[in-house]
Amino acid sequence: MSKIHYMKVLLGTSSPQLGARVAKSLGLGILDCEYKKFPDGEFYVRIRAENDDVIVVQSLRSNDDVVVLNLIFDALEDCNITAVIPYFGYARQDKKFQEGESVSIRALARFVEGYADRVISVNLHSEESKRYFNKLKEIDAMPIIGKWLKNNFDDFVLISPDYGSYERVRTSAKYASCEFDYLEKKRISAEKVEITPKEVDVRDKVVIILDDIISTGGTIVTAGKILQEMGAKEVYAVCVHAVFANFALNKLYQSGIREVVSTDTIEKITSKISVAEEIAREIAKKE
Ligand code: R5P
Repeated sequence: MSKIHYMKVLLGTSSPQLGARVAKSLGLGILDCEYKKFPDGEFYVRIRAENDDVIVVQSLRSNDDVVVLNLIFDALEDCNITAVIPYFGYARQDKKFQEGESVSIRALARFVEGYADRVISVNLHSEESKRYFNKLKEIDAMPIIGKWLKNNFDDFVLISPDYGSYERVRTSAKYASCEFDYLEKKRISAEKVEITPKEVDVRDKVVIILDDIISTGGTIVTAGKILQEMGAKEVYAVCVHAVFANFALNKLYQSGIREVVSTDTIEKITSKISVAEEIAREIAKKE
């Protein structure tokens, strides 16, 4: 059957809300798709793609998401694919730390670019990761986070929990028109970090910690405790990618964080800031 020339959006299993928002923002229809999981854990995907241009929206926050994306790509044979991967997992392993290791993000980049004509993602975890892509357009969520904070908080200080996120926080602070600084962080193990305070005057202030990812929550819990000990009036946490491994959200609230807010790159209860408009704008750009 020959395909008709128009674009539709395919909602991946991990990004139905964001996918629908992107479709709405572009005025596009949503593709008819069936997902099933067999009793043994295997997935089944069936897509009725009568058109030839498809925007697939699927975050890769779990191994299941990767398998489903593989099946989606296979079902969409003969289509032009724009792969929107709002959260691109596996970006921590961005080089060989020891001989014989796989470079995970390179493997995933090859997989996605093997099928997709365009790839769009939001704040990849490392600069290093980007060199494994040829078709990637990266969106920076920091401006919209800054604008959202400006509209929802009065008189606050934006803090990066480490120097690695300092530039990101600087960008958000520009849009939020607020003070900003960073804390120095030493990672002891995968789950434990030690933070030494810098010269930040947080006494009696509302402090918002901003990071790209909250995974185990260890970084924010430790930073939050230090900021509370330094006399911060209220401490909030904001991130782009709400991975929330190992009951991180429970740990964050138990540690005294007032509220946790994230974008919808990973769809969670905390996803109050949407990156849909930014993604739609990138898709609409002429190559
Ligand atoms: C570190 O490089 C990142 O910016 C985050 O600080 C880190 O990934 C957060 O991980 P966790 O929540 O496990 O401390």
